[in-house]
Amino acid sequence: MGRLDDKVAVITGAGRGIGREIAMLMAAEGARVVVNDLGGNTDGTGTGKSADDVVAEIKAAGGEAASNTESIAEYSGGESLLKTAIDNFGGMDILVNNAGILRDKTIFNMEEADWDVVMAVHLRGHYCCSRPFAKYIRENNRTGCRVINFSSVSGLYGNFGQANYGAAKAGIAGFSRVLALELAKYGCTVNTISPGALTRMTIPLRKEEVGEEDLETGGPQHVAPICVWLACEEAAGISAQIFHTGRGGVGIMQQPIVIKQFGKSTGTWSLDELDTFVPQLVEAKKANEEAAKETGKMIEIG
Ligand SMILES: NC(=O)c1ccc[n+]([C@@H]2O[C@H](COP(=O)([O-])OP(=O)(O)OC[C@H]3O[C@@H](n4cnc5c(N)ncnc54)[C@H](O)[C@@H]3O)[C@@H](O)[C@H]2O)c1
Repeated sequence: MGRLDDKVAVITGAGRGIGREIAMLMAAEGARVVVNDLGGNTDGTGTGKSADDVVAEIKAAGGEAASNTESIAEYSGGESLLKTAIDNFGGMDILVNNAGILRDKTIFNMEEADWDVVMAVHLRGHYCCSRPFAKYIRENNRTGCRVINFSSVSGLYGNFGQANYGAAKAGIAGFSRVLALELAKYGCTVNTISPGALTRMTIPLRKEEVGEEDLETGGPQHVAPICVWLACEEAAGISAQIFHTGRGGVGIMQQPIVIKQFGKSTGTWSLDELDTFVPQLVEAKKANEEAAKETGKMIEIG
């Protein structure tokens, strides 16, 4: 008995890296899996057959899988995922929006094309794949479905040289919170993962060399379990959350919330009053952050 027996899962960008690990683990848990991947380079150029390779691996391990090589940056690509799932396995229960690319540059050097293509694959890609699935859930009264989206600390904290990627990844967190509200009525949860893993995307960003041991402790296999768990029946009540994971850690993130405010019963704030109160707000935020640094420290469980 697998945890995902009778479920059909679609994973975008599953030809390598984190997506491949999720596809392999979902298949091992009994899901029938659509492996989507355009098979291109990290910068979004080119195409390839990595999705077929992962399908072959899943089948060799005794699982069921089908390949889809469409670009999820196109709406027709998003629709094709649903069609591949229905044609091959008769339905769809789980969508993992994982596909991604990078075009890192500072704002001074970031051309329109670098902005557009990153927004297209990440933010637009989440829309292109989620909307056909959401409509399918509503039209078919399909219960117990799951959407799992991929954000990044780049957008949630900020990272130098990634204005395009950070904006898209922050947008994905916002998109997920809204989708969670809109799909709650249909029993579909929507959660977000902020991963950290040594993959083709991140290894070149490391200053030090990456050895076998680093891949063992920091590889994409550490991201897959929480993603698969969120797809299970046991995660039914959990939605609109951001889980941070990688390198053996699994954590939950605080989301934007007002932590302190002052009120005036009459009139608007004068600039002189703001001279007094804004520094107090900034101090409160710093104290909050310091407290979170303490509670967010990894608790070793062996
Ligand atoms: N690796 C990390 O530390 C890290 C950190 C934060 C966020 N992420 C996010 O996790 C996700 C997976 O990243 P990864 O590290 O496994 O990268 P990866 O490059 O190993 O895999 C990404 C896959 O997405 C595919 N892809 C790209 N554009 C596509 C498109 N238009 N249509 C279909 N497939 C497409 C690529 O071909 C590739 O196989 C991405 O969304 C990434 O932004 C990763």
